[in-house]
Amino acid sequence: MANQLISFHDLQPSRQADLLQPCVFAAINLALTLKQLHWNLRGSKFQTVHEFLDKVIEHARATADELAERTVTLGVAARGQATAVAEIDMPPVPDSFVTDTEALQYASNLLDATIGVLRDAQAPLGEIDAVSEDLVISAIQTFEKQLWMLRSHLM
Ligand SMILES: [Fe+2]
Repeated sequence: MANQLISFHDLQPSRQADLLQPCVFAAINLALTLKQLHWNLRGSKFQTVHEFLDKVIEHARATADELAERTVTLGVAARGQATAVAEIDMPPVPDSFVTDTEALQYASNLLDATIGVLRDAQAPLGEIDAVSEDLVISAIQTFEKQLWMLRSHLM
């Protein structure tokens, strides 16, 4: 029987890119939208929430970069223009000031939706490339921990 080892060149780059690209868009959207909440929240928990949102934004930016660069590593161009990101369906936030509690709720909803996009990609990626799957799992792990921390402020 032929050797069953999977070579880098046996991967399906276009299929992987199709799965990774929505994750890139979701991560960019998360970083942009959380920044708006970071600026516009008001209330007694301002400093804590303001600073914590920046930690999530930092991870969202790193995730977008990591997954986009994985796409390019596979030989497919990555997309990241604002016009493309704007086409995805994610929970909106108001273009106004929000209370600290509202900011936490909006941020939780956004983070939850982002995790959903990554989880949708994770299992199919696992069937064709464990390396891409591992990057997505790693991103999910940190986002889910951050979601727990965000929600803990709402108790
Ligand atoms: Fe800031």
